[in-house]
Amino acid sequence: MLITFSSSLNVVCLNWKQYDIVPLMDIGKKNEKRLKIYPRYNNILELFSYFMSFNFKNPSKLFSWFYSLFCPIYGKFYYKELLKAIELTGSESILDFGSGAGVLAKKIVKELSYEGKLTCLDRSDAFLKKARKKLRKYTNVDFILGDIREVGIPSNTFDIITISWVIHHLPKEELPDIIQSIVNALKSNGKVYVIEFLALPHGIAEEELFKFFNRMGLSESVVFRKKKTGIFEFKKK
Ligand SMILES: C[S@@+](CC[C@H](N)C(=O)[O-])C[C@H]1O[C@@H](n2cnc3c(N)ncnc32)[C@H](O)[C@@H]1O
Repeated sequence: MLITFSSSLNVVCLNWKQYDIVPLMDIGKKNEKRLKIYPRYNNILELFSYFMSFNFKNPSKLFSWFYSLFCPIYGKFYYKELLKAIELTGSESILDFGSGAGVLAKKIVKELSYEGKLTCLDRSDAFLKKARKKLRKYTNVDFILGDIREVGIPSNTFDIITISWVIHHLPKEELPDIIQSIVNALKSNGKVYVIEFLALPHGIAEEELFKFFNRMGLSESVVFRKKKTGIFEFKKK
């Protein structure tokens, strides 16, 4: 069976329980040899997460609207577990790296006292604008647009860095530098909390995630793990 649905250039070929993403121009040339170069998704969640990875930098209105609606619903349970694990005192200085539309950020800032400070960093102007709007009434939040490697955050700035569903979107070859910048921005004894999607091919394998942080001298502990999603704490010595 072949179905097509929304996306700029791609369609989905549905072969019962397998899903192939094929650029529109290749429909009609549907032969196995050609299709092999495209990823194959084995369940609806994998397929869905493929669409979710679309174009954060310049999102279409539809994607941006859909993501802003979906994210609080899907993330609610995990954000709650994350906040339970962090045990904020309220006076921390926190960076939410890849803050997107600011859904987690809003939950964090609600737990901060006037001494606490939250910074939202995202390279997507469209999503950062949404976060600004969502958090406009809070005076202890600031926003940084750009790549963490380039925005010049001084070393030892944050007590806590949260990273929810960002790492699997980053190109593998860029991860060592990005994680180095995250670790630099973290105070000694500071902690990084990661919520990550672990199902391959869209997600990242848990061991691989640990390796990136271990190389920078951080030790991990598993805060929570359910099916294909994990919440991890990485501690800087
Ligand atoms: C799946 S969204 C997650 C958003 C949010 N953390 C959440 O829980 O919904 C990934 C976000 O990471 C951002 N991002 C990806 N790579 C980035 C980078 N190198 N620097 C800053 N932000 C980045 C994207 O723009 C996007 O907003």
